[in-house]
Amino acid sequence: MASANNAIGIFDSGIGGLTVAGAIHQLLPNENLIYFGDTAHFPYGDKSAGLVESYGVGIAKYLLERECKMIVIACNTASAYSFKAVTALVGKQALVLNVIDPAAEAIAREFPDKRVGVIATRGTISSGIYPRKIKKKSPGTEVTSLATPLLAPMIEEGFFNNKISKTIIHSYLSKKSLQDIEAIILGCTHYPLIRKEIEEYYKGKVAVFDSAEMVAKAVKHQLESNNLLRLDEKPTLEFYVSDLTDSFDGSAKYFFPAGIELQKLDIWNP
Ligand code: DGL
Repeated sequence: MASANNAIGIFDSGIGGLTVAGAIHQLLPNENLIYFGDTAHFPYGDKSAGLVESYGVGIAKYLLERECKMIVIACNTASAYSFKAVTALVGKQALVLNVIDPAAEAIAREFPDKRVGVIATRGTISSGIYPRKIKKKSPGTEVTSLATPLLAPMIEEGFFNNKISKTIIHSYLSKKSLQDIEAIILGCTHYPLIRKEIEEYYKGKVAVFDSAEMVAKAVKHQLESNNLLRLDEKPTLEFYVSDLTDSFDGSAKYFFPAGIELQKLDIWNP
């Protein structure tokens, strides 16, 4: 088993996982982080289950080579399709967390017998993982799901807080399946970047849930329980992408205002 100074490995298909990495860094500023954005394979949301699983396993292998003490699957699609395989691969070498359990548990706890909506990629929605996990804990919660496949690519391209994003977001949120809900889960780690626009649409009438902060708290809890919290200051933050994209640097400053040094690392063709 790794020690407290070993890094937390965090991965996503692109910039989305930075919402989770940012929340972890804010809550646990001493932790060493290794972030991997698999931009060469973005978007995961439209890929087959088997392919997404193989990407998750490939990245987890790299993070294990780097001796990470914990692997955070900071992507809902990869959490839906690769969590089992990654957990099996990792065994006792590191802790593994996904981004779906914390949000599903919070919704089940706070909205029993209520109607809630989930928006996410096609992959996450067709896996049925949110309704399954929520209903297991709270059978009375009615879960209605909508695939919103344009949102992650729109955000990855840097389109948010503008007219185009507003039009696309409104067109999705006004769909029949999302009416009369009391809460909505942003079931994709890219969506916290459009959280403000979603909140503006609902004008406080619908509670908006994203998992970034909940995952950060779960990370803290797991590290504490396993005596793996890093106490030394001056952490090392490493950010890798499998293909360099223009939008990555720009978006990163939302979560790491001091700026990040982005490096290309093609783990697929080393
Ligand atoms: N950030 C990923 C998620 O949470 C979605 C983006 C993609 O389609 O790759 O599902």
